Amino acid sequence: MDTSGAQEYDRLQELKTFDETKAGVKGLVDSGLQKIPKIFVRPAEELAKDLNYKRAQIEVPVIDLGGLEKTHRHKQIVEEVRIASETWGFFRVVNHGISLNVLDEMLDAIQKFNEQDVEEKKKYYTRDNTRRVRFNSNFDLFASRTASWRDSLAISFLDPDQINSDDLPAICRKSVIEYSKLVNNLGNILFGLLSEALGLEPEYLRNMDCSEGQRFLCHYYPACPEPELTLGTAKHSDLGFLTILLQNQIDGLQIFFQNQWVDVQPIRGALVINIGDLLQLVSNGKFTSNKHRVVANRLGPRISIACFFSGPINMDEVFYGPIKELISEENPPIYKEILLSDYIAKAFTVGIDENFLVNYCKG
Ligand code: OGA
Ligand code: NI
Repeated sequence: MDTSGAQEYDRLQELKTFDETKAGVKGLVDSGLQKIPKIFVRPAEELAKDLNYKRAQIEVPVIDLGGLEKTHRHKQIVEEVRIASETWGFFRVVNHGISLNVLDEMLDAIQKFNEQDVEEKKKYYTRDNTRRVRFNSNFDLFASRTASWRDSLAISFLDPDQINSDDLPAICRKSVIEYSKLVNNLGNILFGLLSEALGLEPEYLRNMDCSEGQRFLCHYYPACPEPELTLGTAKHSDLGFLTILLQNQIDGLQIFFQNQWVDVQPIRGALVINIGDLLQLVSNGKFTSNKHRVVANRLGPRISIACFFSGPINMDEVFYGPIKELISEENPPIYKEILLSDYIAKAFTVGIDENFLVNYCKG
């Protein structure tokens, strides 16, 4: 019973009211609020647990892709990719072939989308996952325990040539199309390196269609008046094979590594690469899909653009299991074969789940 005399807190109603504004977290900030609404406040026990973790002063590996075409450099790079993918599941790349100018324009375009007239932005606000372009705040708003301090624009298409550019918001269309082509190329290069790092032919992962199904999540994390009470993105690992992340210069991304939170400080011009759950699965656990999160920040906006390669999600009857060359008597399969469409559907219903791979794919 509530003895304080205050009205009982109706969380569902609060979520609905927030969602119906279609203005996202940025809308709240623009209204000038100084305290964050209760739907964003993490439970006390969770906040207390977080205080126990040390903050590590170690750095996520940086891999220089320059000179990739030279035999001796190529070997070195494959080795660096192998070590980083086995231990961290994360690395940053520099000299990756996408110019600073293209990166800056992409970040700028996403900032402009979020900061345009709210009525224009509302036209894209939806939770209908069949739409290729969706703007909303918290894709799992009604499933998660605590809402996160971010708005996102999701863009899905099957391959860069197929993109129906009319669907894309005019304000960011040109930049998204340009960036998507370049990031797709980079994805192909990385899948080559990752195949080699697994001791396979360079074409192996591409031939499995791992580089298909490109999907973008463009996040906007407004400055937060009480950052210690909430998160920008809750702890999770990524579902697909691989993620390429572009971030602006505001801190927030952290990786959970050796039982500590490690900050992934932005390096201008670098991209953050991480192994997703599906690559952990097909590599039979050789590569690690690591947990990460984004903390809220008093400064903002933080902008990040995640490009996920999640396989041919438009096709029926696509199965993925541990690669046969990687299993043996000493290395029996630790995951079962999954039907891609089921896996994706399940992941969307569950929302952010820290232990998705273990819960649904263990062999
Ligand atoms: C994600 C993610 C990190 C970021 O979208 O899966 O982890 O920096 N994003 O926004
Ligand atoms: Ni992620």
